[in-house]
Amino acid sequence: MSALSLLPITVLALSASLAIAQEGGNSTEAPEITPFNWTSVEATTDLQWQDCYMPPLQCTRFSVPLNYSNPDAGDAAIAVIRVPSSLPDTDEYRGPIFFNPGGPGGSGINEWITGTGLAFIEWIGPEYDFVTFDPRGVNNTTPAIQIFDDPEEEAAYIESISKSVDLSPDIWDTLPERLEDYRQYGPEINEKFGDIVRHSTTDNVARDMLAMVEAYGFEKLQYWGISYGSVLGSTFAAMFPDKVERIVIYGVISPIGYYNNDWEKTVVDADNGLLSFFELCAEAGAELCAFHNSTAEEIQERYNVLYERVTTRSIMISNDTPLGPATFESTIHPVLYWPHQFPAIARTLASLEEGITEPFEAESAVSAGTIIRCLDADIVRDTPEELIEYSEGVRNITKYLPGAVDGARMYCAGWYTNPDNFRGPFNKKKTSHPLLLIGNTYDVVTSLSEAHNTSALFEGSVVLTYDITGHTSIARASDCVHAYLRGYFINGTLPEEGTICQPNNPLIDVFSANTIEPGTGAGEDGDNGNGSGDGEDNGALGQFGLSWSYLYIALSAVFVSL
Ligand SMILES: *[C@@H]1O[C@H](CO)[C@@H](O)[C@H](O)[C@H]1NC(C)=O
Ligand SMILES: *[C@@H]1O[C@H](CO)[C@@H](O)[C@H](O)[C@H]1NC(C)=O
Ligand SMILES: *[C@@H]1O[C@H](CO)[C@@H](O)[C@H](O)[C@H]1NC(C)=O
Ligand SMILES: *[C@@H]1O[C@H](CO)[C@@H](O)[C@H](O)[C@H]1NC(C)=O
Ligand SMILES: *[C@@H]1O[C@H](CO)[C@@H](O)[C@H](O)[C@H]1NC(C)=O
Ligand SMILES: *[C@@H]1O[C@H](CO)[C@@H](O)[C@H](O)[C@H]1NC(C)=O
Ligand SMILES: *[C@@H]1O[C@H](CO)[C@@H](O)[C@H](O)[C@H]1NC(C)=O
Ligand SMILES: *[C@@H]1O[C@H](CO)[C@@H](O)[C@H](O)[C@H]1NC(C)=O
Ligand SMILES: *[C@@H]1O[C@H](CO)[C@@H](O)[C@H](O)[C@H]1NC(C)=O
Repeated sequence: MSALSLLPITVLALSASLAIAQEGGNSTEAPEITPFNWTSVEATTDLQWQDCYMPPLQCTRFSVPLNYSNPDAGDAAIAVIRVPSSLPDTDEYRGPIFFNPGGPGGSGINEWITGTGLAFIEWIGPEYDFVTFDPRGVNNTTPAIQIFDDPEEEAAYIESISKSVDLSPDIWDTLPERLEDYRQYGPEINEKFGDIVRHSTTDNVARDMLAMVEAYGFEKLQYWGISYGSVLGSTFAAMFPDKVERIVIYGVISPIGYYNNDWEKTVVDADNGLLSFFELCAEAGAELCAFHNSTAEEIQERYNVLYERVTTRSIMISNDTPLGPATFESTIHPVLYWPHQFPAIARTLASLEEGITEPFEAESAVSAGTIIRCLDADIVRDTPEELIEYSEGVRNITKYLPGAVDGARMYCAGWYTNPDNFRGPFNKKKTSHPLLLIGNTYDVVTSLSEAHNTSALFEGSVVLTYDITGHTSIARASDCVHAYLRGYFINGTLPEEGTICQPNNPLIDVFSANTIEPGTGAGEDGDNGNGSGDGEDNGALGQFGLSWSYLYIALSAVFVSL
């Protein structure tokens, strides 16, 4: 058995491209994408753009020191991509907006190839270059963090993790041994990766962004980050408060929680997200929602019965392996990020009732993001008793989904952490322009209250509420959100405190027949297309398979409305 979701990487796995895919479109042909050989491009300290992948994308490799305090420690080559402004050399041109898609470990390059950059032009305006990149250690940026020597080694590791990060109360008695295993594993990792890993911290990514801003000929950063990208944004703002032109953070994680390896507050709305699913399922009806019953309460009851079977480990994956609650919850949780996957959740739950467990056996891969997250945070020195108390705390916050996050803390025990990277303080920072934060009413992994608490750390910042269930504000289009974004970037204006935006279309649409749905299970293709796409961060996408057709549909929808 191996379940990716048990790996903490899925805690924040994200993809804006998937989010856009649900907006609809008609085309079926995939766009022509020319492969681009990053290693053939020389890394420089000026930004030498060249055409790549498909018009209008342009790429460059940007050279940065691995250690900003020691130029002799070698360089990294950051893979950078942009959708250039259509108004260069005019008075209207406003320079670059940098974007981070989340993760940690999310690939900006992949986001732009799949169309997200083009969507941003439509939302914010042609005055900007939309720039993103693969952060240190990630995907096309070198040196890469190569975690395993071969797929067998990786598979064995994932299997062991799946069992060991389960903090369910019924197996607390084995926790001391399992924790000891993690502590043993840490030094091996440190030895294996040494310097490259040590320098792949978020503070260095913030320094890299500032270096790129300056190479661009600007002094201050214009930035938009979602989910983990909110940590990068708030870290930048705390490190370089005078270098803030505009910073928008969407789907906010408190940087204090992040750097303390404390995930508890991220899930305060996790159960509410699940309850929204029950409500929409009830409204959609039995034909469109496979886990239907006549009321939300009855659907919840149906869920409770199934969940009880899981928590008592009575649904078997094989003769001797039950489906554990941590695996179940970490599979369901990331799918709740995107409401357009609700029909797929319903089908998965209904088939699980019949004993079909495939979606919970998905193969997965460990991404650099796991390492970055552990490396960034304060070292975890918990005793088994303290971990149990932590898990109890998480269980007090979410009844249905604690297993999706409580293991994330234990996972870092024994890992390398950088003794001198920036981890704060984040106290009442006065930035050269106030930050704009956006939070969804029910976001199962970055709660609205985290956005408010983070706002309290930055003077003058404002939280815009997007009244929707799901992770990040681009989960569904909202002209209201887009207008505030544009107003903020162009004029620097912040919404009034307490402003609430609505989506263009009601959420129940996700169950309508015209909705594009992703695949229903591990490695399967979606109903509308063939061939799985690469999952960013191998998160929900990796598990639920995203086909090229979806991506193209997303892309064509953008082109059509341009
Ligand atoms: C899809 O096709 C229909 C009918 O041809 C058209 O009305 C609609 O605008 C198209 N939608 C998109 C997103 O292209
Ligand atoms: C990419 O370019 C490098 C350096 O020019 C070369 O060694 C490598 O073979 C190329 N890779 C591919 C897939 O063409
Ligand atoms: C970076 O270089 C400085 C100065 O040599 C050194 O003190 C520091 O430990 C280095 N950082 C890392 C993460 O190696
Ligand atoms: C719906 O709820 C009723 C009452 O709780 C129950 O008898 C019935 O079996 C449920 N239907 C399904 C499909 O679970
Ligand atoms: C969890 O809730 C119980 C019951 O309210 C309380 O006694 C306990 O102290 C809480 N535990 C933690 C760690 O918050
Ligand atoms: C926000 O801050 C308050 C006061 O410090 C704290 O009680 C609350 O738990 C925090 N909420 C979250 C979601 O971090
Ligand atoms: C920016 O401010 C000007 C002047 O108040 C206004 O006319 C314009 O509509 C604003 N632009 C945006 C995008 O809000
Ligand atoms: C998927 O592939 C099958 C077999 O090659 C083909 O019959 C089908 O039309 C394809 N579906 C789509 C949506 O491309
Ligand atoms: C890495 O980037 C390539 C494009 O260079 C993309 O095809 C691939 O999906 C990306 N991988 C991940 C894990 O994002």
